[in-house]
Amino acid sequence: MITRAPAPGIREPREEAPRRGLARRLARATRALATPLLPDDYLALVNPLWSTRALRGRIVATRPVGHATTELTILPGVGWAGHRPGQHVGVGVEIGGRRHWRTYSVTSAPGDEHLTVSVTAVPDGSVSTALARTARPGDLLTLGPATGDFAPAAGERVLAISGGSGITPVLGHLAAGAGTATGADTVVVHSGRGERVHGADLRRLAADRPRLRVHEHDTTSGRLRPEDLDDLVPDWRERTVLVCGPTGMIDDFSAHVARAGVTCLVERFRPAEPVAEGTGGRVTFAVSGIVAEADAVTSLLRAGEDAGALLPSGCRMGICHTCVGRLRSGAVRDLQTGELHTAADSDGSTDSDAVVVQTCVSAAAGDCRIDL
Ligand SMILES: Cc1cc2nc3c(=O)[nH]c(=O)nc-3n(C[C@H](O)[C@H](O)[C@H](O)COP(=O)(O)OP(=O)(O)OC[C@H]3O[C@@H](n4cnc5c(N)ncnc54)[C@H](O)[C@@H]3O)c2cc1C
Ligand code: FES
Repeated sequence: MITRAPAPGIREPREEAPRRGLARRLARATRALATPLLPDDYLALVNPLWSTRALRGRIVATRPVGHATTELTILPGVGWAGHRPGQHVGVGVEIGGRRHWRTYSVTSAPGDEHLTVSVTAVPDGSVSTALARTARPGDLLTLGPATGDFAPAAGERVLAISGGSGITPVLGHLAAGAGTATGADTVVVHSGRGERVHGADLRRLAADRPRLRVHEHDTTSGRLRPEDLDDLVPDWRERTVLVCGPTGMIDDFSAHVARAGVTCLVERFRPAEPVAEGTGGRVTFAVSGIVAEADAVTSLLRAGEDAGALLPSGCRMGICHTCVGRLRSGAVRDLQTGELHTAADSDGSTDSDAVVVQTCVSAAAGDCRIDL
């Protein structure tokens, strides 16, 4: 299911660090000696983390941090360029012989040798279940670069409102020092049913950090409401508000905060409800020749994957632009805005002319052909 490393087992960070320096030197030397195409292949054979072409990561530890959530500690390969607090990373997992990409917020501090992500298994979720339930030390993953902009401006006081696994980008800020004596003054309001995801970690941090206050809310006794903020965090209007959690929570709190004229940053793990119109159509993926029948609410990406096409993807919700392809004929509808894009918008005779669509947030609006 998940690619296993040739030699599974936890690697000690101290042992790996000099090897990574050695890998970089070897890469340079091998490049000088071998044909341009091959050095990376040799290095990847010796250690998959030394590949400079495909960024890989090896899981070195797993830790339960909620009843359905597992923290994965990952040693990234030599191409890892680091991250900023609040950013997320694409994780590629092989399941049934196909690589599936999903996005996970980085919870470790920038500059750490290892990066951590916490994955909550969602019902019927193929990738989250594999990562949260069956991943183990020694497994290899494919990684994308860190992206995203879920961060307050420097020096601002912060209120972070999170639900369930939505705590993860907030943890990224805490890992980077929020709430410490020199970090941003931070209040975290975190809710969930029963024991909260990363609840024990939050309580430990709150006990240690002078400028961090954590309020946990058990939704068994009812959901937290935006009106509760006045009692919980009386000065919330003087803070930048970060919200991440279930769709309903994000919509309710961000609308309330925006009405008060307060800066509100939102991180969504799932796309908003798609705009559906029409009946869909037949989608032809030009590179593989695969043809998919797609309805008006299924993204071109999902329809193509279900039909067996290997398609590029990252966030799967219109953020990262990894999934784009040129529309050669027909029409597609943007599932976020309802806007129609037709190949006739340009004559398509040159690449710069062609309409480029994000396959993860576009659906067929009649028969169409995509250059992927
Ligand atoms: C910017 C960003 C950051 C993210 N960070 C994290 C993170 O730190 N931790 C984490 O656990 N997840 C995170 N996610 C969500 C993650 O990328 C996957 O969407 C999630 O793990 C489900 O993938 P899956 O393959 O298991 O489910 P799929 O096979 O894609 O979907 C299975 C079913 O679950 C539903 N579903 C999909 N996503 C969710 C969800 N988030 N909650 C409930 N139901 C869902 C689908 O509608 C479908 O019915 C993030 C997503 C984004 C866009
Ligand atoms: S996969 Fe990120 S924009 Fe489509």
